[in-house]
Amino acid sequence: MERWARIKTTVLDVVGDTPMVWLQRVGTPGGARIALKLESFNPGGSIKDRIALALIQDAAHSGRLLPGGTIVEATAGNTGIALAMAAAVLGYRSIFVVPDKMSPEKVGILKAYGAEVRVVADKPRSDPDNYQNIARKLAQSLPGGCYMGQFERQANPEAHFLSTGPEIWKDTGGNVAAVIAGAGTGGTITGIARYLKSQDATIQVIGADPEGSILSGGSYHPFKIEGMGEDYIPETLDIGLVDRWIPVSDDDAFAMARRLAREEGILAGGSTGAMVVVAQMVAQELSSDQLVVAVAPDTGRNYLNSIFSETP
Ligand SMILES: Cc1ncc(COP(=O)(O)O)c(C=O)c1O
Repeated sequence: MERWARIKTTVLDVVGDTPMVWLQRVGTPGGARIALKLESFNPGGSIKDRIALALIQDAAHSGRLLPGGTIVEATAGNTGIALAMAAAVLGYRSIFVVPDKMSPEKVGILKAYGAEVRVVADKPRSDPDNYQNIARKLAQSLPGGCYMGQFERQANPEAHFLSTGPEIWKDTGGNVAAVIAGAGTGGTITGIARYLKSQDATIQVIGADPEGSILSGGSYHPFKIEGMGEDYIPETLDIGLVDRWIPVSDDDAFAMARRLAREEGILAGGSTGAMVVVAQMVAQELSSDQLVVAVAPDTGRNYLNSIFSETP
């Protein structure tokens, strides 16, 4: 009916088109201005809502996921939440294998959406008991099971090429000097970089990387920042599109996340803290009439018992 035309069919129809907000206090005096793209405005609370439907449609169209089938995925949380939400709407069962460093808040959210959760020890990918390897085996052993494969399916970066990148371009009128993002699967940074550089090859795309991840050049060791950083280069990360990587420590990232809440009223996760630490460094290299956009992947509500329970 025409008079109800603005009412959306399902929550999946309100994914994307997230707002950008200036940082007012946590800036770099004299340097470029910084705006945060707030992905917590997605209905599942994170940037991963953008890839959930794309992964499911990809699996359904290729015949890997059949009606009434079971979605299985390895996730540090947000992809699981996005897939669990989409599975609830579309009528699939869902099971998620998560590393034990994942916050209890995120496990609780998965269960709230009706998903099953298997928590496993956080091991490197070369280990057969790594959460991705366990999830893949679980999907194979389950009748109707389908491994979603966010670390290998090109539907992941493509979702960002089709939505996140164009939104940044549109909302800045193309006047953006640098974009800061992290890489878990690399889908976000790859899709954004591919789109923005196709519009203007001079736009810099810079990766914020947890200390301990290999992307910024160091050797692997565990870190606490969730959702980004790697011990290998996933197929969904086109590393050639990223101009450089800047490492950030857990402590600096978490301290910045707390500042964002207290000084900007933006309650975001630890990875957003890392993005803003990097955005400040990059802003210093640019002039005050230029813009740095940093992607804020999720909400601080996921980390109330960790990052926000520490009180320095
Ligand atoms: C919490 C969180 N979720 C999701 C992402 C997006 O990761 P990707 O698209 O590389 O998998 C990030 C990246 O920084 C993140 O920090």
